[in-house]
Amino acid sequence: MQKTILITGASSGMGKAATELFADQGWTVYAGARRVELIPTGDNIHPLHLDVTDHDSNAQFVAQALTQQTRLDVLLNNAGYGEYGPLEEVPLASARRQLETNLLGAADLTQLVLPLMRRQGYGRIINNSSIGGDMYSPLGGWYYVSKHALNVWSDTLDSEIRQFGLRSVVVEPAGTESNWSAIAMQHARTNLTTDSPYRQLTSGFINLFDRFLTTSGATSADLAEVFYRAATDRRPHRRYYNAHADHTVAKFAQAFPGAFAQVINLATKLALHTAKSDVAAEGEALGDSTD
Ligand SMILES: NC(=O)c1ccc[n+]([C@@H]2O[C@H](COP(=O)([O-])OP(=O)(O)OC[C@H]3O[C@@H](n4cnc5c(N)ncnc54)[C@H](OP(=O)(O)O)[C@@H]3O)[C@@H](O)[C@H]2O)c1
Repeated sequence: MQKTILITGASSGMGKAATELFADQGWTVYAGARRVELIPTGDNIHPLHLDVTDHDSNAQFVAQALTQQTRLDVLLNNAGYGEYGPLEEVPLASARRQLETNLLGAADLTQLVLPLMRRQGYGRIINNSSIGGDMYSPLGGWYYVSKHALNVWSDTLDSEIRQFGLRSVVVEPAGTESNWSAIAMQHARTNLTTDSPYRQLTSGFINLFDRFLTTSGATSADLAEVFYRAATDRRPHRRYYNAHADHTVAKFAQAFPGAFAQVINLATKLALHTAKSDVAAEGEALGDSTD
């Protein structure tokens, strides 16, 4: 029998790649995002408008799928973004939007699908978190809060729904090619106040992020494969990673919080140093051009 999955954030990156992969594998896919025109189309795909921060939109998304399907196998909570910026300056309204999108949207959709999954006696909630659910760095505070919270929310949910034959699991990607970093770095810039004392740190970290993400090597298609494993493993794991290195970083941060804090302090010094060198180089270049 054809399986059914609901995927959020299907207009870009990992959600888009997952929509294509599950449809290719013969699943019926209900694919939601605000930019519905960017969701892939195809025989098994139903593109639907969805804003996960809006309860009515979530309810309509689930209702549209469930009026057409008699079964629901998987909800993939993938929609998310990074509300980057220094904690002193990120407006709390933006912090709330971050939690509404990355955490409460997933929780709302899950509440909407669980009654059917319980009645069926099968079903799986896959939560796309991040290795940022186990670690942190400067400027990503609210993003890390949202992903740490998503992890503990998923683990608690898992402990409650296993009795019904259901599971809730977490995927933790590291740097992956998508629109995520451009959006996160845009927030890092726009969340700075005029004359912010965090300008140098921000420009240094944006440099480090650019270097780190261009060398990360993971594609959204790679992560779609990880979601597929999480959806189809007979005995699902609590956590899924794309690469061993991602797992190692997450475990290192958890097991050795003091040593991890030292690594982050070093990275922060490096970011500040890089930003200072860039300013000096710009100054020299300006000096050269005016000679
Ligand atoms: N790329 C990375 O390096 C990385 C690493 C770790 C974890 N992640 C996580 O992976 C997930 C997917 O991100 P990505 O890398 O594929 O980024 P992306 O290319 O920016 O895609 C994000 C998706 O989320 C959707 N979205 C955002 N806000 C939404 C809302 N309110 N309602 C519905 N959809 C919404 C966007 O669609 P619309 O704008 O059209 O609504 C888009 O389809 C996110 O949860 C992200 O935090 C990414």
